[in-house]
Amino acid sequence: MDLRLRAPLDMHLHLREGAMLELVAPLSAHSFAAAVVMPNLVPVVDTLERLSDYRAKIEAATAPHTFTPLMTLFFRPYDEAMLAAMRPYIIGIKLYPEGVTTNTADGVRDLLRIEPTLAAMERLGIPLLVHGESHGFVLDREAEFLQIYARWASRFPRLTIVMEHITTAAALRLLDQYANLAATVTLHHLLLTLDDLAGGLLSPHLFCKPIVKRPEDRAALLEAALRAHPRLMFGSDSAPHPVERKEAANCAAGIFSAPVILPLLAELFAQHDALAQLQAFVSDNARAIYGLTPPAKTVTLARRPWQVPARYGEVVPFYAGQTLEWQVVDVQAN
Ligand code: NCD
Ligand code: ZN
Repeated sequence: MDLRLRAPLDMHLHLREGAMLELVAPLSAHSFAAAVVMPNLVPVVDTLERLSDYRAKIEAATAPHTFTPLMTLFFRPYDEAMLAAMRPYIIGIKLYPEGVTTNTADGVRDLLRIEPTLAAMERLGIPLLVHGESHGFVLDREAEFLQIYARWASRFPRLTIVMEHITTAAALRLLDQYANLAATVTLHHLLLTLDDLAGGLLSPHLFCKPIVKRPEDRAALLEAALRAHPRLMFGSDSAPHPVERKEAANCAAGIFSAPVILPLLAELFAQHDALAQLQAFVSDNARAIYGLTPPAKTVTLARRPWQVPARYGEVVPFYAGQTLEWQVVDVQAN
């Protein structure tokens, strides 16, 4: 039987700029109604001018699809006047600790000194989106950051804090402790563990930040996604890098999942007899958490096999060359 999804949303997406933007943005715009666009460009998106220019380029690259880019600003210790001026143009502000992932040299060095900005964001109702990793041992970085989430969630109870791309059972437990926390989870963290990346021969195309974790973490995330935990949203973190940056010493972090997201989510939810929850997981939860009204768009998937291309331009996609059970067969903007 066909599966119909209303206004699928990707709540964490890297679209890049230039030729890469033109290559990857239409793939998301085809089957999603809107996406939260990450600001870690070079230079980062931290002014209204840069944001408007980037938004216009995304709109040009995604025409004629019905698709709304939900823009984010790169976190800096902005003052309240700047925040008030930016508010109409953004869905939230993305905070990266300094140096934790791609293009974050301008991230926050001292997390305890930025609380005046968080207080202003709370007053203005601007959500805070966080790449929550410490600078510790790679498998423990998210767990070590949880104390920061807990501190901010309790100090700023009216600030919506989105724990981006959570990867651990511990993060899910924290989510249930504070009403103002929400989270996104990627497709790859529902499917992979560290064994897939490094248990046999190394698979650079499965290397991302935060790194994929233990089987029990994946199991906990999958359980929460399959029941569409109301404060958990789908966010792909699809992050394309050219093949020569991936199949290399100093392999860049990022998995390019955009072309395969809805087919693989359908397969995963069908396997677990949970297709009825997919609408909430890929759209309704995010609408409720952010108070969003995405454009009307109905995406139909059918159980009809197709082979994922080996490459999209110079980018190797997630599941490259593999056959998927489901595909998008129709998209109606209405
Ligand atoms: C992202 C990128 O390449 O921009 N990489 C990744 O591994 N997810 C940055 C990020 O979200 O960490
Ligand atoms: Zn990301």
